[in-house]
Amino acid sequence: MAGSLWRFCCRRWSTSCTTSPLTETLRCFSGRPTSSSTGSLGRVSGSSGPGNERPSVQAHSKALHLNSSVIRRSSQLLYPTLQCCACRATHSDAKLKDPFTLAQKDLISLYDDIKKEMFVSTKELKHLCDYYFDGKGKAIRPIIVILMSRALNIHSNKAGEVLPGQRTIAMISEMIHTASLVHDDVIDGSDERRGKRSINDVWGQKKAILAGDFILSAATMALARLGNSAVVKVLSQAIEDLVRGEFMQLGSKENENERFKHYLEKTFKKTASLMAHSCKAVSMLVNSDPEVHEIAYQYGKNVGIAFQLVDDVLDFTSGAGQLGKPTAADLKLGLATGPVLFACQQFPELHAMIMRRFSSRGDVDRAWQYVLQSDGVQQTTFLAQRYCEEAIRQISFLQPSPERDALIRLTQIVLSRNK
Ligand code: FPP
Ligand code: MG
Repeated sequence: MAGSLWRFCCRRWSTSCTTSPLTETLRCFSGRPTSSSTGSLGRVSGSSGPGNERPSVQAHSKALHLNSSVIRRSSQLLYPTLQCCACRATHSDAKLKDPFTLAQKDLISLYDDIKKEMFVSTKELKHLCDYYFDGKGKAIRPIIVILMSRALNIHSNKAGEVLPGQRTIAMISEMIHTASLVHDDVIDGSDERRGKRSINDVWGQKKAILAGDFILSAATMALARLGNSAVVKVLSQAIEDLVRGEFMQLGSKENENERFKHYLEKTFKKTASLMAHSCKAVSMLVNSDPEVHEIAYQYGKNVGIAFQLVDDVLDFTSGAGQLGKPTAADLKLGLATGPVLFACQQFPELHAMIMRRFSSRGDVDRAWQYVLQSDGVQQTTFLAQRYCEEAIRQISFLQPSPERDALIRLTQIVLSRNK
């Protein structure tokens, strides 16, 4: 049973991500040539992939062990000298830079600039709209966008400085994300966000919905002002995906494989699409090479999926204080995320609970116990690691730069975060 879900996962991986197997990733980091063919950017297009693996739970545990050593080993190899099969130059002068420090310069006034974008004459609406732009969020999207912009500019033989349009994308990305969170808290009935009372809790649902709408409209106006219809299209897709992803979350599937497919698709749309499309947008503003746009997109997509998988794990492993929101929140909302779907392979009793969205008395507690007794958390973590490996593989096709290395480092931060 566990094997079948894994195989499904692996198939998804191989079809949707054109990835290479773990060994390929290892070769990539060790700088040894691969037997696979390479494209114009030196991109590896090997035919073998995780889709060919058929790990049992035991094999999976071994793989998990191997995987942590891969991550450790890759980090040793990456700094200060990055060895990468995909790039001509194998040296980066980068010291081990913290992504947050590296992006900081371009983000100092980000929240003030966002507030300036929201021209509101009504004092109360203005207060609501500004509420979450207090600099206390993780700002993961703007950080990725800024680092990606500079890495792409260097790759395109331009100066590393962020272009004004690219910085606007960082701002827009954070605004779209925040608008979606304001709406999400209404849907989830959450009374807390970023360590403080949610907008809906303080001002009520109606005003919260309107504040979310307003932030979104201000973001789209900033986007329109860029005057680049291709970029408008790309970010519009991200907004559409957010809505579709959230809508998908309201439903579930009877069949187990369908259910996992549904979960991964929802994860992409709800979380990764905005990152992927924002990365693509900043690429489009500096060069016209679709292959480079695809690298940027794939990095954002893979890191975004990993980010959400880790979020789903933290719902089971993190205390309320650390997350700034209550744990087991997903189960309480009726959501079966990665850890539960994997646990269901070992404990089929979960199936009925998943189908009734943990609505019967005691379901949440029992499901929680099953998950903790299973290896659902480890399997989901392992899956997140694989998405990060793919993100690293993709970004390694760019020319070396401190920002490219910081994007690689960011994948480790995504995997090791506890909030
Ligand atoms: C957080 O999910 C929610 C999202 C990442 C997206 C929500 C999208 C919508 C509500 C669609 C509307 C979109 C726009 C642009 C207005 P979560 O509940 O898993 O995370 P949480 O624990 O942080 O609440
Ligand atoms: Mg929520």
